[in-house]
Amino acid sequence: MSFSKNHVFFLSSLLILICSGLGAQVSHDGRAITIDGQRKLIISGSIHYPRSTAEMWPDLIKKAKEGGLNAIETYVFWNLHEPQRRQYDFSGNNDLIRFLKTIQDQGLHSILRIGPYVCAEWNYGGFPVWLHNMPGLEMRTANDVFMNEMQNFTSLIVDMIKKESLFASQGGPIILAQIENEYGNVISSYGDAGKAYLNWCANMAESLDIGVPWIMCQESDAPEPMLNTCNGYYCDQFTPNNPNTPKIWTENWTGWFKNWGGPDPLRTAEDVAFAVARFYQNGGALQNYYMYHGGTNFGRTAGGPYISTTYDYDAPLNEYGTPNQPKYGHLTQLHNILMSMERTLTYGNVTSTDYGNSLYGTVYTLDNTSSCFFGNTNETSDATVNYRGIDYNVPAWSVSILPDCKTEIYNTARVNTQTNLMVKKSNEAEAEPASLKWSWRPEINLEQTLVQGKGQVSVNMIVDQKVANDVSDYLWYMTSVNLDKDDPIWTDDMSIRVNGTGHILHTYVNGDYLDSQWATYGVTNYVFEKKVELNPGTNQITLLSATIGFQNYGPMFDIVQAGISGPVEIIGRKGDETIIKDLSLHKWSYKAGLHGLDNKIYSSDSKFASQWNTENLPINRMLTWYKTTFKAPLGEDPVALDMQGLGKGMAWVNGNSIGRYWPSYMAEDDVCSTDACDYRGSYYSTKCATNCGQPTQRWYHIPRSFINDGDNELVLFEEFGGNPTLVNFQTVTVGTACGSAYENKDMELSCQGRPISGIKFASFGDVQGTCGSYVKGSCTSQTDALSIVQNACVGKESCTVSASESTFGTADCADGIAKRLIVEAVC
Ligand code: GAL
Repeated sequence: MSFSKNHVFFLSSLLILICSGLGAQVSHDGRAITIDGQRKLIISGSIHYPRSTAEMWPDLIKKAKEGGLNAIETYVFWNLHEPQRRQYDFSGNNDLIRFLKTIQDQGLHSILRIGPYVCAEWNYGGFPVWLHNMPGLEMRTANDVFMNEMQNFTSLIVDMIKKESLFASQGGPIILAQIENEYGNVISSYGDAGKAYLNWCANMAESLDIGVPWIMCQESDAPEPMLNTCNGYYCDQFTPNNPNTPKIWTENWTGWFKNWGGPDPLRTAEDVAFAVARFYQNGGALQNYYMYHGGTNFGRTAGGPYISTTYDYDAPLNEYGTPNQPKYGHLTQLHNILMSMERTLTYGNVTSTDYGNSLYGTVYTLDNTSSCFFGNTNETSDATVNYRGIDYNVPAWSVSILPDCKTEIYNTARVNTQTNLMVKKSNEAEAEPASLKWSWRPEINLEQTLVQGKGQVSVNMIVDQKVANDVSDYLWYMTSVNLDKDDPIWTDDMSIRVNGTGHILHTYVNGDYLDSQWATYGVTNYVFEKKVELNPGTNQITLLSATIGFQNYGPMFDIVQAGISGPVEIIGRKGDETIIKDLSLHKWSYKAGLHGLDNKIYSSDSKFASQWNTENLPINRMLTWYKTTFKAPLGEDPVALDMQGLGKGMAWVNGNSIGRYWPSYMAEDDVCSTDACDYRGSYYSTKCATNCGQPTQRWYHIPRSFINDGDNELVLFEEFGGNPTLVNFQTVTVGTACGSAYENKDMELSCQGRPISGIKFASFGDVQGTCGSYVKGSCTSQTDALSIVQNACVGKESCTVSASESTFGTADCADGIAKRLIVEAVC
């Protein structure tokens, strides 16, 4: 019997079908990640499932796909899933499997960074605090107790995923998995035990037999077959320790995180695009935006200490899940162009040319096609490169891409996408803040703690707050001291001194509030000292410690102390004599949490639900609960809560925690520049930062899924004291959209689903300024650009206008001046 060509075709198709049913073979060679033997270019983005809500996932992932990504990356957050030892939670927004299936539904790949140490500005780097309290346990080193727990959790995750067939080898989306996180940055602090742990991590991961490669980021000692990958603002110069593995960039920081007291980071679209283009110019195989959508640190998930509730990150999708323009659009165009060159980039021959003065050309050639990159890494001087007889202008700190080596279709410094200025609109459903009727109540049973010093346990020492297993931000440290007038310390100049770890301290003596202290991001200790009047006889000392997220990074970050470290002392000063009474070994009584929190006073089914006062609303009263009802903001725009006027505390909407709030913490005012942002040159986290001197975070995201159609309840716990009467709900939407297109490109403009209501400015020439403050430049076309654009755009949801002399007439610009069409639209 002989086979015809048709037979062969039929059989091979059948084989492919059977194989794909079994899943894809993911591997790698020196050049790229391969899927079923084909080299792939991977452009990925981080979206952390618990930093949004399950209801937001489909839309976020869809927008990521429309943004030109073909993979989504997430960490797995151990302390969310195993809040108590061997008690697991994968419900609601913790539903990792549902998140991965949402990625699969959109046909995207996924990268799963199990860690389970994740850093991520997440509370305690993702470790559950009970882990720290296990006898004999040492974290991230060769310690059997720790390794046993880590293996238990890692295999639990792997098993869950296998059961759902989510690894690519099983037909699922996951093409890579990660073990540990940036261990190479800290390994030297752990000595030989660190090396042993690293090898153990690799072996343990391998033994789980997941059928796709494992990565270890920032780990130049990564043992084979682990893939070492790069994290940073730029990774084009990275080479993995094993030269037979591809160049992978697991974290391209699209901006930066924010800490209480820190400004708003801004990393421009031009700089991120430059970094990405340089990476692929230099043979990059996979890059992942960290973050593509940063989102929100709901509840008590923020790390720290001092990481803010917003985790916006200046990512391409903002905290609310809407495009951060122009970053989103500028990168989308780049992704589409890179993907159009996928085969040439992954299979082509590479030739590189150093043109001098930091200008580099790279040509990828495959069969009869070739694609070119010109990268100018000079921070100040623009360059001109003559290639095959044509001059190309390459601005400083930019990359030009010519997919056919002839026509430049993208330059990272020339933005041909719109910029959006977001605005907050008041809640149209009611006239807030006046319509919000507040009731209040003091914290429950405060007397017990402040005056009687009654706790749950007593020991003759001052404890690290971690002993309380992080059940609450709050831990009361209570002791009493007997003094009589004959005591050598007795004087009329006595103080109390407390050594704290940098978290918040509120001090009470004999039931009266004395004072508070806290620190700034990066400061992990302070000494509180305040004059106090003590009574002869017994004095009750009550210290309330409030943590603001446990440390999440650094060598041995896990043993950094939290709460009050001690000593706690009474100081008596007599002339030049100072007498110290150390209270550290006194009997200290402890109570974790607050009665209101324990009784879930923020939820409508709490037994305290009816015990609220409607009269004499107090202002600036510490440890006070407030409650109001509000009407759901109309429409579908995202909702933000304006917390102006409040101090610091926590807030819940219909029982859902929206995170810690702290609008009274101002962003430092000396790190922002008043000059226009010059992104050229290496980025650093305060470069081009904004919002200095303003509240670090005034607005808090309330996901729509937390809100009902009818009446809703907002509950606040005000720790410091504040004024709730200014609080109001707002919707976040595009206020102004500025279109931009260089000559012979199309200017596309939209108001994100709403009609464009007006055009304020339009000019074709060398427009100056930025969105919101454009002015005509030295050359501008003679026609009435404004009416041309008004006719094309007003009343429409989107419009496209060609930025050309055929539309606008000649603009007599001097040689070397790039002409642009710039439009400012009112949404
Ligand atoms: C990296 C870390 C990430 C995140 C990032 C900063 O070092 O791997 O988890 O913390 O820094 O946002």
